[in-house]
Amino acid sequence: MRLSRKSALITGAARGIGLEFARAYLAEGAQVAICDINEQAAQAAARDLGDGAIAVALDVTDRDSIERCVTVVEEAFGGIDILINNAALFSAAPLAEITREDYNRIFSVNVEGTLFMMQAVARSMIARGKGGRIINMASQAGRRGESLVAVYCASKAAVISLTQSAGLNLIAHGINVNAIAPGVVDGEHWDGVDTFFARYEGKAPGQKKAEVGAAVPFGRMGTAADLTGMAVFLASSDADYIVAQTYNVDGGNWMS
Ligand SMILES: NC(=O)c1ccc[n+]([C@@H]2O[C@H](COP(=O)([O-])OP(=O)(O)OC[C@H]3O[C@@H](n4cnc5c(N)ncnc54)[C@H](O)[C@@H]3O)[C@@H](O)[C@H]2O)c1
Repeated sequence: MRLSRKSALITGAARGIGLEFARAYLAEGAQVAICDINEQAAQAAARDLGDGAIAVALDVTDRDSIERCVTVVEEAFGGIDILINNAALFSAAPLAEITREDYNRIFSVNVEGTLFMMQAVARSMIARGKGGRIINMASQAGRRGESLVAVYCASKAAVISLTQSAGLNLIAHGINVNAIAPGVVDGEHWDGVDTFFARYEGKAPGQKKAEVGAAVPFGRMGTAADLTGMAVFLASSDADYIVAQTYNVDGGNWMS
């Protein structure tokens, strides 16, 4: 097992990709904190995962909530070895219709949430003196703009940039910061994305999903399970020398 005796705090882990990461980490011997704004779903997920999993309420936009969550996880596991910044929101609109409210909502979760979770957990890791791993969830959306997705794309470009700066800053403390950039991953998140495109591109429900899946060079949309190999690898000692990188795990959608 590659993550024995490690403890992980995963944000937005009550469902989707974060939940699958939690399952994979448990299978590799780690203890996992399912931290989510949807407390009920987090508790149900932790119960379902069983021994080694706990649920902690967390709103990544709220500094007090972040501090409380980090303290609870530290006390439960005796310290935090791995943070996955996975919580995020999506929105889409033509440029002329973007509102400040929507911009603030998306940036406060995707960018500020990532930055201040990194800060809180890095402080804890530095004080403990055992180094650690931080994995941020970027996206192919952070690699280039999209006509209807300006705010989300910009937020994920910011995650890639924060990963670089934090990676360079924190490696002095033995904390490796890296990111994963998925492509299109089937699940509740993409059901929501599909609804946005149905509205703005006049597509039938499910049509956008079918189109983006067919366009992936691998031949289909990704699944959360397609991403777990990279998430385990980046948290493991095999990735000791990897710093400030963002890895595409997207079936060939983007090359950089
Ligand atoms: N699904 C995809 O196609 C895809 C593609 C590229 C990148 N990503 C990224 O991967 C990550 C996970 O995506 P997913 O598809 O599992 O998303 P999802 O929407 O299914 O899950 C997101 C989780 O974050 C939680 N959350 C939302 N706001 C929060 C807050 N303020 N504080 C704490 N938790 C909060 C939600 O309750 C939910 O459980 C995200 O960062 C997303 O941007 C997803």
